[in-house]
Amino acid sequence: MSEPSIGVIGAGVMGSGIAQTLATAGIRTVCTDIDEQALERGRETVVDGRYGFERAVARGKLSREDADAALARLTFTPSLDEAVTCEVVVECVPERLDLKLQVFRDLDQRAPESTILASNTSGFPITALAAVTNRPDRVIGWHWASPPPIMRLAEIIVAPKTSDETRDRVCELAAQAGKNPVVVKDFPQAWGFVANRIYFAMVQEASRVVEQGIASQEDVNQLMVDCFNWPVGPFAMVKGATEGWKD
Ligand SMILES: NC(=O)c1ccc[n+]([C@@H]2O[C@H](COP(=O)([O-])OP(=O)(O)OC[C@H]3O[C@@H](n4cnc5c(N)ncnc54)[C@H](O)[C@@H]3O)[C@@H](O)[C@H]2O)c1
Repeated sequence: MSEPSIGVIGAGVMGSGIAQTLATAGIRTVCTDIDEQALERGRETVVDGRYGFERAVARGKLSREDADAALARLTFTPSLDEAVTCEVVVECVPERLDLKLQVFRDLDQRAPESTILASNTSGFPITALAAVTNRPDRVIGWHWASPPPIMRLAEIIVAPKTSDETRDRVCELAAQAGKNPVVVKDFPQAWGFVANRIYFAMVQEASRVVEQGIASQEDVNQLMVDCFNWPVGPFAMVKGATEGWKD
C-alpha cells in the first residue's frame, strides 16, 4: 500500500492541530483553507503555538530532527484539489450543517473515488453528510478533542452505510496518530455523539448553578477540579474549546 496521506480541510483551531498531529505521526498531510490568513495562522500555531513544534523541542518532548521531519511532511496550501488527492480527508470547517453539507458535496465531486471522507463535526449526523455523497460507504466521523496534539480522543462514528473497511482504516490511522479509537454509532436523533452529549449535559447544569446565583463560574471550575481531579472546570473547558488553549 502507498504511504498514508491525509488532507485536512480548514486550518483553524482543530484543523491546524490535527494536521500537526498527523504529520508528527509520520503521515504526509496537506492542510487547506479558503482563507489565506487562516492558513498562515495555522502554520504559525503549528510551529510556535503553545503545543507547537518549537515548544515541544524546547521541553524535550520532540527532537529537533523529528520536528523538522514532521514539518517537512506537512503542507499548507489554498488548493483543495491538492488536499483531496489524499487517502483520507478530514473536514474541519466551522460547525454549520449547511456549510458541511456543501463541503461534502464538493469533496465527493473532487476527490478520487477511493478517498475516505471523514468529518470532525462535534455533533451533526454523519448519516446526513454521507447522504449528499455518492460514497456513503466511505464517509465516517472522526471526532478529535482540543488541543489535538495532546488529547487522546478518537471518537469514530459509523453511520449505517459506513463500510467495515473504512472504519478499520480510520481506526488504524487514529492509532498511528497516538490516539485511542473508540467506535460509536451515529444517532441522528440527538446532537453530539457520546462524549459531547455527556459533556453538554454537564455544562448545562453548571450554567444553571451560576444562573441560580449559587456559585460563580470560577468557583464551579474549582469545585470540579478539586472534586473529580479534572484538569480544568467546565467553563474553562468551554473557553479553551472555542478560543484555543493559549497561555
Ligand atoms: N474547537 C474545538 O474544541 C473542537 C473540538 C472538536 C471538534 N470541533 C469541530 O471541528 C470543526 C472546526 O472547528 P474549529 O474550532 O477548528 O473552527 P475554526 O473556526 O477555528 O476553523 C475553521 C476553519 O475552516 C475554514 N473554512 C471555512 N469554510 C471552509 C471551506 N469551505 N473550505 C476550507 N476551509 C474552510 C475557516 O476559514 C477556518 O479557518 C467544527 O466542526 C467543530 O465543531 C471543534
